[in-house]
This record gives sequence, C-alpha cells and structure tokens, in this order.
Amino acid sequence: MLSLPAIDFSTPPDEASLRPPARERFAPRLVRAISGELVSIQDGRKLHLRSIAPNDIESLQRCFLRLSPEDVRRRFLHAMSELPTPMAQRLCQIDSTIETALVLVDETVVPGEIRGVGRIYVDQAADSAEFSVLVEKNWTRLGLGALLMQRLVDDCRHRGLAEIWGYVLLENRPMLDLCKTLGFVRRRMDNEPGVAQITLRLV
Ligand SMILES: CC(C)(COP(=O)(O)OP(=O)(O)OC[C@H]1O[C@@H](n2cnc3c(N)ncnc32)[C@H](O)[C@@H]1OP(=O)(O)O)[C@@H](O)C(=O)NCCC(=O)NCCS
Repeated sequence: MLSLPAIDFSTPPDEASLRPPARERFAPRLVRAISGELVSIQDGRKLHLRSIAPNDIESLQRCFLRLSPEDVRRRFLHAMSELPTPMAQRLCQIDSTIETALVLVDETVVPGEIRGVGRIYVDQAADSAEFSVLVEKNWTRLGLGALLMQRLVDDCRHRGLAEIWGYVLLENRPMLDLCKTLGFVRRRMDNEPGVAQITLRLV
C-alpha cells in the first residue's frame, strides 16, 4: 500500500483554520491494481480510481441524476435536466490520444456507482488541455476533488503540454479555492462576465 506522493501542494495551510486541510484529512492510500487503484478515505470508505469505460454510460447517467441543479450548472456551465444517452456515450467513449477521463467508483454497491469524474480534452494546436471535474455531494470535502485535479495535472505533464485550464463560474468558491491551492491563476474573460478561466502553466 502506498501513500500518495503525487499531491504536492505548495501553498501553506491557512493558519487561522482549526480544521485540518483536505490533503491531511484525506491522506489517501492507494493500492495499484491491474485496472486502476484503490483509494482509501480516512473515514474508512473506499473507491476505485480508474479510466472511464464504454460501459459506464448508465452509471454516469445515474451519477448525473444525483447532482443538484447547482452542481450541474457549475460543471456544465448551464442547466441540464438529464444527461442524454448520446452525450453519455460520447463522454464514456474517449479518444485516449487527446482525452483522459478518470472515474472514482463505489464498488460497495451493486451496480457500482460513479462518485467523481475528472477529465481533460487536449487542444494539440494550443499545446494545452481543458479540464472538468465533479465530485458527488456526499463525497465532497474529503480530498477527492484535489486528487482528481492532481491526477489530471500529472497527466498533462506526462503528455508534455504547456498548460491546463478550465472555465469556472465566479460564484463557484469551492472550485476556485481548490484550484488556488493547486497553483492555478485566474484570467479575466471580458466577454463572459460570470465566468473565470483558470490556468496552470506546466512549463
Ligand atoms: C468543486 C468540487 C470538485 C470540489 O470537490 P471536493 O472533493 O469537495 O474537493 P476537496 O475535498 O479535494 O477540497 C479541496 C479544497 O477545495 C476547496 N473546497 C472544496 N469544497 C469547498 C467548499 N464547499 N467551500 C469552500 N472551499 C471548498 C477547499 O480549499 C478544499 O480544501 P480544504 O478542505 O482543506 O479546505 C466539488 O464541490 C464539485 O464537484 N462541485 C460541482 C462541480 C464543479 O463545480 N466543478 C468545477 C467546474 S469544472
């Protein structure tokens, strides 16, 4: 069993906070398996971290149905009442040359349920990748969002990309705070008043 060396938070913790930061509360432990890794959360729950698979379509749609309208808007930047099957198929059928999609799967239930998703989409011409991330409400504040983001950053570095970036609603404090701890900076978007582009230079 390995502790996670990949998470390197350079920002010091908030000294005024009495609550240990997620990176300490979570301190995920990972076991490498043939088809992914086992993530052990400090509260005893376990998730399987692996690449998304073509047969995750229904699981992804069930995950979507458990999201609040606010979470949907924050993830997709607009309201959606369902994840249509063609879109779910597209999200599960990735082209690994330009995409990575990781899922955190709860296998203590049958069928297994997706509790978190992180993905990047590479723009080869721009030498960068756009990210998105999502963690189901009952599983937030455990360090899983940070884990997914760190894995995506590592993946972009491994691909030799110059930058990873994403759009985040300005009212999405959790995501802005999370990205700040990972070293992302905010760019102004004059044409999209309620949205920030947040970016991490990798070179
Ligand atoms: C944003 C999101 C991914 C965070 O996931 P998470 O698993 O809770 O994140 P973590 O537990 O790793 O939190 C890491 C840090 O993020 C920040 N953060 C996370 N949730 C927060 C909240 N509700 N309020 C304030 N800060 C928060 C904190 O800095 C936190 O560190 P701390 O716990 O030590 O204070 C999750 O809330 C989510 O899926 N939201 C809906 C979709 C979305 O907004 N996606 C982003 C746009 S693509």
